[in-house]
Amino acid sequence: MFLNDNLKIFGGTGNPELTAKICRYLQIPQGGAKIDVFPDGEKIIKLEDDVRGRDCFVVQPTCSPVDKNIVELLIFLDCLKRASAKRITAVIPYFGYARQDRKDEGRVPITARLMANLITAAGANRVLAMDLHAQQLQGFFDIPVDHLMAEPILTTYLKNKKLDRLAVVSPDVGNIKTAARYVAHLGGDLAIVHKRRVSGHEVKSVEVIGDVKGKNIVMCDDIIATAGTVVNAAKLVKERGAERIFVGATHGVFAGPALERLKEAPIEEIIVTDTIPLCDEAKKMPNVKVLTVAELFGEAIKRIHRDESISSLFGQSAAK
Ligand code: R5P
Repeated sequence: MFLNDNLKIFGGTGNPELTAKICRYLQIPQGGAKIDVFPDGEKIIKLEDDVRGRDCFVVQPTCSPVDKNIVELLIFLDCLKRASAKRITAVIPYFGYARQDRKDEGRVPITARLMANLITAAGANRVLAMDLHAQQLQGFFDIPVDHLMAEPILTTYLKNKKLDRLAVVSPDVGNIKTAARYVAHLGGDLAIVHKRRVSGHEVKSVEVIGDVKGKNIVMCDDIIATAGTVVNAAKLVKERGAERIFVGATHGVFAGPALERLKEAPIEEIIVTDTIPLCDEAKKMPNVKVLTVAELFGEAIKRIHRDESISSLFGQSAAK
């Protein structure tokens, strides 16, 4: 694969394995940078490569520890800007703080917009992200956003299972469009769970719309955080007569009680991607499968660098 010396890919400490895999796919060495911490806890980054006039990408999911990873991304962007990079793309496989995206009660922030402002102010000229919590988050940035989807990777894996009598279940109304894409690629029927959020830690799956009795289930979500959403939805469809249940989700955040909940859930396999490094406890779970998104990101980076279209990578063709 021919890529000229103008392309530089750097990685923060948020997901070094993913950065390494992207560089391997592109067959280029990772850009050198020394990331250090002062005794008072402040971070310093020193680029070891010349980036003047270069097309630079920084890979950094803003996953846990969220604030540390965000600040590191901002410092990286500032560093590249001040070192005269020609174009800087923030590659954010998982975008933290995305779920606070509206002011639905008084005296609360809109953190998704705040993060977008900070990333732009720090020096990003464009953003490459995957499965943002809501598509409209792209509009929070005043710079171009290329938005990838993990759905083709997840459905290709699930298709190999050759599940018959299939129902694709969206565990809440927010995921219906993704579920429709799953149906377009896997076949089967679409069913939706009506979810009510009680608090940040608790949700209630109230009702299933659609037929799940006697069906094998593929459930899809963008994020598994506390796993309340998918576990409650899985229990509900099981009560309604579902057979085998598989869950596909892009971002395996696995926070708080998530893994305990998943261990007790009637779910045969949980499939996530490597946008976020898998925690040690999840690695030990035999029914957690991780698929890599490195090639998709690598391909998108290559095409952005060459000013080529990347819309065929968006995975949006099957269902709008
Ligand atoms: C909600 O709108 C999202 O699509 C996810 O369903 C949600 O963020 C998952 O959170 P949890 O795993 O904590 O239920």
